[in-house]
Amino acid sequence: MAYRWKNDLTRADATPEWAFLNRRQLIAGAAAAAGITALGGAARAAAAEEGDLSPNSWEEITNYCNFYEFGTGKTDPASNAGAMTTTPWQIKIDGLVDRPGTYDLTEILAKMTVEERIYRLRCVEAWSMVVPWSGFELADLLDMVGVQDGARYVAFETLHRPEEMPGTRYPVLDWPYREGLRLDEARHPLTIMATGLYGKPLPNQNGAPIRLVVPWKYGFKSIKSVVRITLTDKEPFATWNQTNAREYGFYSNVNPEVDHPRWSQASERRIGGGLFSARQPTLMFNGYGGEVTSLYEGMDLAKHF
Ligand code: MTE
Repeated sequence: MAYRWKNDLTRADATPEWAFLNRRQLIAGAAAAAGITALGGAARAAAAEEGDLSPNSWEEITNYCNFYEFGTGKTDPASNAGAMTTTPWQIKIDGLVDRPGTYDLTEILAKMTVEERIYRLRCVEAWSMVVPWSGFELADLLDMVGVQDGARYVAFETLHRPEEMPGTRYPVLDWPYREGLRLDEARHPLTIMATGLYGKPLPNQNGAPIRLVVPWKYGFKSIKSVVRITLTDKEPFATWNQTNAREYGFYSNVNPEVDHPRWSQASERRIGGGLFSARQPTLMFNGYGGEVTSLYEGMDLAKHF
């Protein structure tokens, strides 16, 4: 069956009343509008916005990966992640929730609305892609288990199975890989748990069978192969933040104005653009400022990077 793109809206179709658009239109249309809002109409950025939601190829997305559990090279995950067993898959959901438990992924999926989201992915290393995910809103899963009043953060944990994950036999990171979001970030409609790519099940190297995707944050926040979700009242352990807090903040919102101590974050290299293609400007909040700026009102984003 032919795969049809859902990003066929043009700028003219995008309306500021994004809340009235259906979710699919929101992603395709509002993304184009968002960059303009965030950057005050900077012509360069607007030009970068035009047409940049054309997804990368399956080959690019599945062969250029970061998944340190399978090695630190970009092609290591594609070579090694086949060994990971992903069925059955269970997710432990605990902490400040009404219905804690160990849930089968099939049981979760039966209750969720899976839809396509075409999102930019901006790695902290200054490369980027456009990825046609399928997934469901994390907020729906949180509602399923019932978040209790005191909860302020959501913590996530990746599978830790050294016999299937050769990279974890070395102390490259403090395994298991862990990440965290503030509760309002986790509940934001752009935040999804992805289960597919190009309408097919997520390949192991991209975080099968289920991963987080937070498109306005650097890619390392989008933790793969999630086996545990914990609601908590304290800022959770986040692997890269704990590894080097000077270089990787807890928030890690994409921000062209706050450089990494060792490189500029003002521009990025789009994977598949060719060796000599021009770098493109990085957009504030990765182009999703129209939707997420209000989450950070009054916060110094240079301090809380
Ligand atoms: N999740 C786990 N468990 N381990 C990882 O090494 N790498 C992160 C993130 N999630 C990583 C992870 C980084 S740095 C990025 S940029 C994205 O996954 C890359 O996702 P992709 O390989 O699907 O493009």
